[in-house]
Order: sequence, then structure tokens, then C-alpha cells
Amino acid sequence: MSFVAQRLNYFDSSDFRAAIQKQLLLPDPIDLSIGVPEELTAEHIKQAGIRAILENKTVYTPADGLPELREAIAEKLRTENNIPCSASTVTVVPGLTTGQMLVYLAILDPGDEVIVFDPYYPPYPHLASMIGGHVVYVSTLPTFHPDLEALEMSITSRTKVIVINSPNNPSGAVYPEHTLRHIATIAEQHNILVISDEIYEHFVYDTPHFSIGSIYPNTITMNGFSKEYAMTGWRLGYITAPPEIINAIDELQQYGVMSSSSIAQYAAVAALKRRPKIVDKYRQKRDYLVPKLEEMGFRVKGAEGAYYAFVKAPHDLIDTEFVDRATEHNLILVPGRAFSRLHGFVRISYGADLPTLERGVTALQQTVADLL
Ligand SMILES: Cc1ncc(COP(=O)(O)O)c(C=O)c1O
Repeated sequence: MSFVAQRLNYFDSSDFRAAIQKQLLLPDPIDLSIGVPEELTAEHIKQAGIRAILENKTVYTPADGLPELREAIAEKLRTENNIPCSASTVTVVPGLTTGQMLVYLAILDPGDEVIVFDPYYPPYPHLASMIGGHVVYVSTLPTFHPDLEALEMSITSRTKVIVINSPNNPSGAVYPEHTLRHIATIAEQHNILVISDEIYEHFVYDTPHFSIGSIYPNTITMNGFSKEYAMTGWRLGYITAPPEIINAIDELQQYGVMSSSSIAQYAAVAALKRRPKIVDKYRQKRDYLVPKLEEMGFRVKGAEGAYYAFVKAPHDLIDTEFVDRATEHNLILVPGRAFSRLHGFVRISYGADLPTLERGVTALQQTVADLL
């Protein structure tokens, strides 16, 4: 008999682990698999972290975060996102991924239904299932934008929450304001929560970002420092939500987290004071990649934001087979099955710098040519 809990049966991160394994094993791999932006953490942010260490600001902070950081986040959310909030309805978490788990633990009872648009960021369904939630998938094919009729049809008396991620990982879709207003109306009619993961909010190339939390009070807005500030390894994110949910998350944080890294939090205070300008560089990479993919015969939908394209493998090849063929050209991709219940897609990340992306395009062209 296994010592491992049965809830792990609902959890599978093998496709991601395989990609990470390849990063370690392949000599000089071309990595278009990972969700890491090309920038390095900016100097003023690193210096703030170093200062925190030298000044011995290396002890636990309050479980919900440093008051000055929560103030700065609340100010950002009010002025940039029009989300009515204050420091008391903001909590700091050690990364959005942990934040997602805390949110689910705070709101889900066994059997509660969680609506997830397919394709999705993998933790949304896996974490929900693991803690006893029932995931209801709503396909976004062929456009990668929510089908609002299908969304309404999927709501039952057990629906607790709709999970939204715009700009989207893995499709790059950016939901326009009118779609988000419509989702808010549906959620309000059925009295359900919305989780909105806005970690790619500044990676938008055609459609402006809109925060659903600005119009729908029962929204749990999640964001963090990993992408815009190139701080993936610092592990820091934040959540704003109705007070009872923030209180529940803080209760969980007290014994489940204790405190996010103090060093990362002091660095984040500095990060919020000087914002990087990244959008033009990423738009340029998107504008380079998408026509190249189309020339190779891929049909590209979405790709309006974040730094991903989610495309169907040619010749009805299954995703893992295409990914294996790409590996023969030193190119690392993640098979679509990690992000979708459909198995014919692959995710291409253009977080990497342009020269790497160009090498990746050459390797993809070779992979596709081999199939002819
Ligand atoms: C949609 C989405 N949310 C959250 C995360 C992870 O955020 P964090 O680094 O804060 O855990 C990622 C990382 O790829 C992501 O794509």
C-alpha cells in the first residue's frame, strides 16, 4: 500500500517535469517551453533586496505582508485597475501558484464546482480537483475566447467560481472589456465568485487589459511580481478579494505560510516605485513569431497577449510526438495536454530573447519539414 495520499491521484505535473528534465539534459537547448521572461530582475529591485539583507530585515513579516507593500499594492490596484480596495483587503502570498491553492482552500467545499476555460494554466484544475472541487471545463475553441452561451450552460447550483486568466496562458487570448462585462453579469445573476489571474496584464498587444474586479465585487483578483518585474525566483504575488475571503486566506497563511519572504517583499516595494516598460519588445517578438508560424502552416488564434502561442501540431500528430520530434532539433516545447483536455496542441513560449526565438523558429521549420 502506498503511503501517498489518494488526492495525489488527481494531480499530474509530468509534462512540465519532462520539459524541465530536457532543459537539464540537452546540450545547448533552444528553450521555448518555459514561462520565464527574458529580462533579468532590475538593478534597483536587486539592490533593495540586498539592502534588506544587510539591514537584517530578514525576519518573518506579518502573514498578510508588510504594511507598506500592501499599501503600495492597494494604490496600484485602485489607480491602474480601478479595483476598489484598501491595504486591508490585500494580502501578499509567496507566488500566485501558492496563492491559487490558498484561494481554493478558502472557498471550496468538497463537490463545489469550479469552471475552468480550456486551455488553462495547469494549476487551476489540478489544485481544485486535489482538494475535492469538481472541475467543469468550458472549451474556448476555436477562438480561445470564452463562449458565453457555453459558460451559462455549464453553471449549476453547485457552481462556486469561474476562473479567468486574461491575458491567457497558454493561448495568449486577451478578453475584451465587453466579454468580461458579460461574464460579470452572468456571475452576478448566479451569485458566483470570479477568480481573475492577471499576471500578464502588461503583456497586451492589441486589446487593452480590463480588470473584471473593477465592476464585479465578488472577484478575487490575483497578480504578482514574476512576469512584469522578471522576479519569478523571488516568489511573490498578491490577492485582493471581498473582506471575508481575504480574512480566510490570512487565517490559512498564518499556519500554512507564516510569511512570504521578507527580502522579496522589500524588493517588491522598490519594484512598484519604478515600473519596467516591456510591451513593445514583446509585441515585436509576437509580430515576428506569428507570421513565421503561419508560413509553416500553423493556424494561430489568440496570441494577443502574454507570450505564448498555442497551435495545433501538423498532420494530426499527437502533441507528445511533435514535441519529441522537436527535441531532435534541440528545441524544447510543452505538449498541449499539459494545458488542455485536447491532445493535438503544443505551446510555444516567446518569453526568450529574439535570437533564441529565431533559433527556435529555424528548429521548428526543420521539425515541420521532417514531417513532409
Ligand atoms: C497564468 C499564470 N498564473 C500564475 C503563474 C505563476 O505565478 P507565480 O510565479 O507568482 O507563482 C504563471 C506562470 O507561468 C502563469 O502563467
